[in-house]
Amino acid sequence: MTDDIAIRPITDDDVESVVVLWEACGLTRPWNDPRDDIARARGSLEAVILVAERDGEVVGTVMVGHDGHRAWMYYVAVAPALQGTGLGRQLVKAAEVWAAATGMQKMHLLIRPENGKVRGFYESIGYAEQPRVMMAKWLDGRPLDP
Ligand SMILES: CC(C)(COP(=O)(O)OP(=O)(O)OC[C@H]1O[C@@H](n2cnc3c(N)ncnc32)[C@H](O)[C@@H]1OP(=O)(O)O)[C@@H](O)C(=O)NCCC(=O)NCCS
Repeated sequence: MTDDIAIRPITDDDVESVVVLWEACGLTRPWNDPRDDIARARGSLEAVILVAERDGEVVGTVMVGHDGHRAWMYYVAVAPALQGTGLGRQLVKAAEVWAAATGMQKMHLLIRPENGKVRGFYESIGYAEQPRVMMAKWLDGRPLDP
C-alpha cells in the first residue's frame, strides 16, 4: 500500500500542505504557529522535517532533532485516509535512520495525556514508557497550564 510513497526532506512548496496535515491530525495548538516550528527546524543543522509524498501530495511527516545526546521525534503524522497502512511505522523508521546517522543512540518522544490512543502505535513499533517527570516554564512569565 505504501510502495508508491517517497520519504524526503521538506521543501518550501510543502509548508502549507504540512500545516494542513498537522491540523487534520490534531497536532497544532492555538498558541503555537506551526510555520515557526517548521522554519526553526529547517534552519537548524540538528533537526530535519521529513515528509511522505504520494502522487504529489504530502501524506505524512515526522520532525526529528537531537540535543547532542538524545534524539527526539515530533509531529509524527499520517493523513487520516492512510492511517493504519504502515506509513507511520515507515516515518518513524526514517527518523531513526536520520538520528543514528547523526550519532544518536536513543530516540525519545512525548505523548500528550489526551492522546493516549497513540501509545499502542508506539508500543507496536518497539517503544516503551520510560518514567520521567517533565518540568517546564514559560520564559515570558506566563503561568503554566496544567
Ligand atoms: C499515530 C500515527 C502516526 C500512526 O500512523 P499509522 O500509519 O496509522 O500507523 P501504522 O499503520 O504504521 O501502524 C504501525 C503499527 O501500530 C499499530 N497501531 C497504529 N495505531 C494504533 C493505535 N491507535 N493503537 C494501537 N496500535 C496502533 C498498527 O496496528 C501497526 O501494528 P502492526 O504492524 O503490528 O499491525 C497516525 O495514526 C496519526 O497520524 N495519528 C494522528 C497524529 C498523532 O497523534 N501523532 C502522534 C503524536 S505523539
